[in-house]
Amino acid sequence: MYTSWFALSALSFLVFVSVSAQGLTNNQVDTVKQLLAEGATHSWELGVRAQALLELSAPSFSVLTPSVPLPPPSSPGSSLNDSLADVFTIARNAVAALPPPPSNGTGQPLVLGDGSAGDPASIGIAVLIANWTGLGGENYAAAATAQVEYLFGPAVPKTEDGAISHRVSEVQLWSDSVYMVPPFLAYYGITTGNQSMLQEAYNQVKMYRSYLSDTSAGGLWRHILLGVNGTDQGHWSTGNAWAAAGMLRVLGTLKSSSFSRHFEGQIKDLGNWVAEIHSAMYPNLQDNGLFKNYADGNSTDNFDDASSSALLAATVFRLALLTGNKKFVREAERTRAALFAANGTSAAAIGVPVVTSSTPRPSSTTPSSIASAPESAATAASNAFADTPHFTVDGWLAPVVDPINYAIEGAQSPEGQAFTLMLESAWRDWSAAGSPGANVAPPSARVGLSTVLLGAVGLAVACTAMMMDSRAALFSI
Ligand SMILES: *[C@@H]1O[C@H](CO)[C@@H](O)[C@H](O)[C@H]1NC(C)=O
Ligand SMILES: *[C@@H]1O[C@H](CO)[C@@H](O)[C@H](O)[C@H]1NC(C)=O
Ligand SMILES: *[C@@H]1O[C@H](CO)[C@@H](O)[C@H](O)[C@H]1NC(C)=O
Ligand SMILES: *[C@@H]1O[C@H](CO)[C@@H](O)[C@H](O)[C@H]1NC(C)=O
Ligand SMILES: *[C@@H]1O[C@H](CO)[C@@H](O)[C@H](O)[C@H]1NC(C)=O
Ligand SMILES: *[C@@H]1O[C@H](CO)[C@@H](O)[C@H](O)[C@H]1NC(C)=O
Ligand SMILES: *[C@@H]1O[C@H](CO)[C@@H](O)[C@H](O)[C@H]1NC(C)=O
Repeated sequence: MYTSWFALSALSFLVFVSVSAQGLTNNQVDTVKQLLAEGATHSWELGVRAQALLELSAPSFSVLTPSVPLPPPSSPGSSLNDSLADVFTIARNAVAALPPPPSNGTGQPLVLGDGSAGDPASIGIAVLIANWTGLGGENYAAAATAQVEYLFGPAVPKTEDGAISHRVSEVQLWSDSVYMVPPFLAYYGITTGNQSMLQEAYNQVKMYRSYLSDTSAGGLWRHILLGVNGTDQGHWSTGNAWAAAGMLRVLGTLKSSSFSRHFEGQIKDLGNWVAEIHSAMYPNLQDNGLFKNYADGNSTDNFDDASSSALLAATVFRLALLTGNKKFVREAERTRAALFAANGTSAAAIGVPVVTSSTPRPSSTTPSSIASAPESAATAASNAFADTPHFTVDGWLAPVVDPINYAIEGAQSPEGQAFTLMLESAWRDWSAAGSPGANVAPPSARVGLSTVLLGAVGLAVACTAMMMDSRAALFSI
């Protein structure tokens, strides 16, 4: 029994290696992660970094991982606790900077003085996990509760029907907010055992969609509505990706909660609303695998944006895993191939045998400590990204929208680094699940030499294991 399990594992490893041959290398992932750590300073950047780290390194704490019951374990083992270390640091730094919450119940946000009402709440996921796992040093529960009170309290304006403004100064609904607020409310409902807070997360999504989804554009979401001092009615690609990704997090939270049977209709709606964005966005995907900054914008200063392209592709793999909807997997693969491939590996090659670069790349299974040991971090980074057209030699995703000015192209985007990690982990999990919806040539036709060698080793291991298994069977008679 044991050895046949082993043989099966070896075989699935073989399959996994074949499919994962095009992932980022460990060295690349480490560099992207490091630049994200250095670059994330704004409230929403800290929040999206926390979520990216959960998806990458602590999937059992990510609501996007199917079949992981919520709430998560309250005492993670030491290795899981280690992989949560950076998330804990985000929580601790945020809460340590706050005064005690006001005692009159009006609450306070997790970042004081932010012009955005929604963005600070994105850090809430880290704070809730810190509380749930008993991290010491600060009162995480009180800080999270104050954030909830603030959102529902008088300081944050709402629409007449109750949609929470994304800005403090006036009611403005931004598609971004769907990522910042409802996933936090839903997780707060989990850690406090409050079913109606899960419903409220869904309600907020539903209201935002009722305003921002543009039926005259096939369901693309507008970026900003209702502002007296300016709106952005365009179909900003990152905003569509934020909305889809935020809805998926709420979906994942409802689905994995003990209340899931009460939320079947809501879970179905959320899946449909994510799919609606995909159906509206993907016809605008360019042959190069990227969206423009405004998906359907025709102005001459519209530019290719790798950042939104990465996040939306991640939501496609996640939707396939969470709901079985695989409709745009091929398009997501096109994006991933374009962004992560070595120079010379054409995006158009996805769906047909991929021609691997003649320059061997470090295998994705090479431990980064080995790969980078003899070099300085800077050299390692420049080597790691020497051949990837959609990263600078330092390891920044490119080209990207400026994270603090949505109309123009920027040089470095911390959120783009987070989206890179999300795409990598979504695709990793999707590959591990057998690449549902992939429409590609058999693995043997699309692997490089190093993979073939690894595969041969895997096969040898599998055969040996099977032989041992039959011997074991003989002996056990
Ligand atoms: C988990 O890690 C944090 C630091 O990241 C540490 O403060 C805490 O004591 C650890 N908890 C356990 C149970 O090891
Ligand atoms: C609640 O207390 C805070 C901080 O002490 C204060 O700024 C705020 O005005 C108070 N709100 C109300 C409604 O009393
Ligand atoms: C709108 O902009 C003006 C000028 O910058 C400013 O004085 C005013 O407070 C703003 N109003 C809101 C509701 O943000
Ligand atoms: C904090 O964690 C405890 C479990 O240790 C839980 O009972 C409580 O509801 C949590 N509070 C919040 C605000 O999540
Ligand atoms: C549960 O959440 C709702 C908001 O949806 C809130 O009004 C209520 O006070 C919460 N209940 C508890 C016990 O915290
Ligand atoms: C862009 O689209 C708008 C609305 O569809 C149209 O009025 C305008 O002429 C277009 N501009 C260009 C440069 O194609
Ligand atoms: C990609 O390859 C082409 C042709 O081999 C080369 O001209 C170009 O500089 C390369 N770009 C990058 C970013 O390596």
